[in-house]
Amino acid sequence: MDFAVSETGSGSEDLTLLYDQYNGLRRRHAGFLGYPVNLAIDYRAFGELLDTLWITVGDPSTGYQPRLGLQPFEREVVRFLAKLSGARPDHTYGYVTSGGTEANLYGIHLGRQRLPEAPLYFGATAHYTVERTALLLRMEPVRIPCRRDGSIDPVALRAACVRRRGRGAVVVATVGTTVHGAIDSLPEVLDAIGPAGRHHLHVDAALGGLVAAFAPSPPPWGFDAGADSVAISGHKLIGAPVPCGVVLAREELVGSPAEVDYLSAADSTLSCSRSGLSVAFLWYALRQLGRSGLAARVHRCLETADYAVRALSRTGHRPWRHPASLTVLFERPPASVCRRWRLATSGNLAHLVAMPHVTRDMIDRFCRDLG
Ligand SMILES: Cc1ncc(COP(=O)(O)O)c(C=O)c1O
Repeated sequence: MDFAVSETGSGSEDLTLLYDQYNGLRRRHAGFLGYPVNLAIDYRAFGELLDTLWITVGDPSTGYQPRLGLQPFEREVVRFLAKLSGARPDHTYGYVTSGGTEANLYGIHLGRQRLPEAPLYFGATAHYTVERTALLLRMEPVRIPCRRDGSIDPVALRAACVRRRGRGAVVVATVGTTVHGAIDSLPEVLDAIGPAGRHHLHVDAALGGLVAAFAPSPPPWGFDAGADSVAISGHKLIGAPVPCGVVLAREELVGSPAEVDYLSAADSTLSCSRSGLSVAFLWYALRQLGRSGLAARVHRCLETADYAVRALSRTGHRPWRHPASLTVLFERPPASVCRRWRLATSGNLAHLVAMPHVTRDMIDRFCRDLG
């Protein structure tokens, strides 16, 4: 197949290559178990809206007012997620980011601004981009060992803070770690960092925050549990069709925004132009679901995760999961099975994630494949 972009350009027949790609992606949905993305989505109604530029710039509260005027949509996304995260929406800053990584970068950057001498503490199972963020922001990265379930070890965290006593601490707690779906205990983390002095607690809730919010026994995970900033992914549980995320922060921690004269906008975000489509997708998804729809989605997914644990137990693969997580871990099957079901693997473990498109029928077929 010829993907080359030529000197002269070609024509509309090139769309067939993209349709082929699309059809290939669609065919994979029925066997996509290993990654925490939501494939039960349908945004085809947006097709008619793509003959204009969907752009937003600046803070959702005071941003530049281009013709599309997306600020009210973005403000509502931020308000809704702030409430779910235990924040006081009227005192919460936030915006739609390019994904979980930018949302984490923003939260950690706020911590760095508050505590310029502080190291960045994070669990060994935190997302790989967290360490990179420490390097980018020129912070000392301090990787803390984790317990067997994948959550940060508070004893090791305390010991690391004692060794660096008095410098302050910027800490990333992960709610839903990438491989284990583990949830760092915020009360234990806050207690452990006492010796460090002042702190900024950023919660990477990209994967598990919204699950934790609606779990039968919700673990403490948001602002009401001590978070200063929170990152939530947009293309995971919410199900945007492009990567995006939302960062939230206690408003008083966000410094004065840059006043951008040529835009007549105030901008505290990390980018200039941001994806207006992501804003529109997130608003549309949340508006369709509402709080009760999101809760029902989480309950259905948790039931599927339970079903998967029962089914995998019968195959002898010794599954386990955190009670407030959709990630089901089990012994790593042969490579051919991992490939066929797009399983994520790490060492001798594999996992599936009971996202909204994952059905009991898929689990049954998968278990039959395991033999
Ligand atoms: C816990 C966690 N944080 C952050 C990220 C990064 O998010 P993104 O890929 O949207 O940048 C991921 C990605 O899977 C993740 O699992």
